[in-house]
Amino acid sequence: MNGLKHIYIEGGKQLFGTVSIQGSKNAVLPMMAASFLHKGISVLKGCPKIADVFCMEEILRELGAKTWWEGHDLYLDCSTGEGTEISTVYTGKMRSSVILLGAMIARNGKGKIGYPGGCVIGQRPIDFHLYVLRCLGVDIREEGEFVEASCEKLQGSEIFFPARSVGATEQGILTAVLAKGITVLKNCAREPEIIWLCRYLRKMGAKISGEGNPCIVVEGVESLGRGEIQVPPDRIVAGTYICAAAITRGRIEIENPPENELGAFLEVYGKMGGQYKQNSGKLIIDGRTVGKSVPFTETEVYPGFPTDLQSPLMAVLTTVPGKSCIREKIFEDRYKAAVQMKRMGAHITVKGRDAFIEGGFPLRGCTVKAEELRGGAALILEALACEGISCIEGCSFIERGYEHICEDLKALGGILTED
Ligand code: EPZ
Repeated sequence: MNGLKHIYIEGGKQLFGTVSIQGSKNAVLPMMAASFLHKGISVLKGCPKIADVFCMEEILRELGAKTWWEGHDLYLDCSTGEGTEISTVYTGKMRSSVILLGAMIARNGKGKIGYPGGCVIGQRPIDFHLYVLRCLGVDIREEGEFVEASCEKLQGSEIFFPARSVGATEQGILTAVLAKGITVLKNCAREPEIIWLCRYLRKMGAKISGEGNPCIVVEGVESLGRGEIQVPPDRIVAGTYICAAAITRGRIEIENPPENELGAFLEVYGKMGGQYKQNSGKLIIDGRTVGKSVPFTETEVYPGFPTDLQSPLMAVLTTVPGKSCIREKIFEDRYKAAVQMKRMGAHITVKGRDAFIEGGFPLRGCTVKAEELRGGAALILEALACEGISCIEGCSFIERGYEHICEDLKALGGILTED
C-alpha cells in the first residue's frame, strides 16, 4: 500500500474466503524499543511492514542502530546506539516514539525528545510517562518543545499510575528492567501488548512478573541479551476484518486469529447477531446473520471493548436497523470518521463522548477523507456497504497500521482499486 493516494471501492459485495492477519503494530513498536536495550542483534519475526514500523526503524538508526529485513523478519543490530535525542520530526509523526525515552536513559544515561503534540483523536499528554521516569530517579526538564531527561543510575521504586495507560506502563517496564533493585508498578494497563512486551524482555533476560494484571514487578538486571520472538497477530486488524465480514453480511475464515484477545469485541459482534466459532486454530466468522442494533457499548481499558475498534463498530452499526449508542471513554475526540460516514448517508449524532446511531438507512458511495488510522479503516468498511463507488483520501493514515488491507479485502471478493 506504500504511498497510496486514493482507494476506490465499489460497495454491495458480500465478502467470502480466507484471510491471514499481519503482525501486531502495537506489540512490535515497544519490542523495537526493547531491542535498543541489548548491545547486539535481536530479531522480530513476522513483523508488519507498515509506516509506523518504518518510522521506528528510522529513529533507531538515528540513535546509531542498524536494521534490515529478511522477508518479514526485522533484524535490529543495536551494538552501536549512543544516540540520546529524538527530534520532533519523529515524535510529531508518531507519538509512540516517546516510549524510547526510558530506553535511551536506561542505555545511555540520558534522553531528549521533542514533545509529541496532540493528535486528531485527542490531546494525548505524556504526563504519566514523565511521572514514572521521575519515580525511577530520572531528572526531567521540560523546555519549550523538548523534554530533556538524565539519570546516572536508575533506582527501582514502588509506583502507582494515576490512570491506566498502555504507553506509560510500557515506559515504566522498559526503564525498570535495567534499574537497580525492585520496581513495583501498580494500576498498570492490562492490554495484550504489555504481556507480549514482557515475554520478549524475559527472552532477553529481564526479570518481570505479573504482566496482564494491574501489578507488575520488575527486578532490575545488569544487562539484557539477544531478543527473538514471533510477533503476535494484530488483534485490531483482526477485529477490523471481522467488521468487514459483518458489514457485508459475508462469511470469512481467519487463519491465524489472535488468541483470547478479542473477548469484549466478539461479545458486541454477537449482540449484532454475528456468529463465530473456532475450528482447528481458525476463527470462522459468519456475518450473514448480523442485523440487530446494540443499545449501548462503551470503550474501556483492556479487557473492555477496545477504543481502536470503536470506529469500525460504528460503521457496522450504521447498517443494522434500529438505534445504537457508543460511548468513547478513552480518547476525547475520536468521532472524526462519523462526519465522513454521514456524508455517505449514515444517521449519526455525536454529543460529547456519545455517538447515537440510527442504522438501516441507504448508504451511497462518495469521496471521503481519512483523518486518522482506525477512522480511515472504518471508512473503507462503510464504503463496502455503500451503493456505488466511494473514493477514500488520506490513505497515508491507513498505511500506518494496515499492511495490505486492500489486497486482503480484494482476496475476499471486495471490489477495490488504488492509485
Ligand atoms: C496505545 O496508545 C495504542 N498505541 C493506541 O492505539 C490505543 O488506542 C491506546 O493505547 C489505548 O488502548 C500504541 O500502542 C502504539 P494510553 P497510548 O496511554 O499508549 C491518556 C492505534 O490506533 N494519557 O493508554 O498513547 C491518553 O490521552 C493507536 O493503534 C494521559 O493522560 O494510549 C488517553 O486518553 C491509537 N497521560 C488515555 O490516557 C499520559 O501520559 C489512554 O492512553 C498517557 C496517556
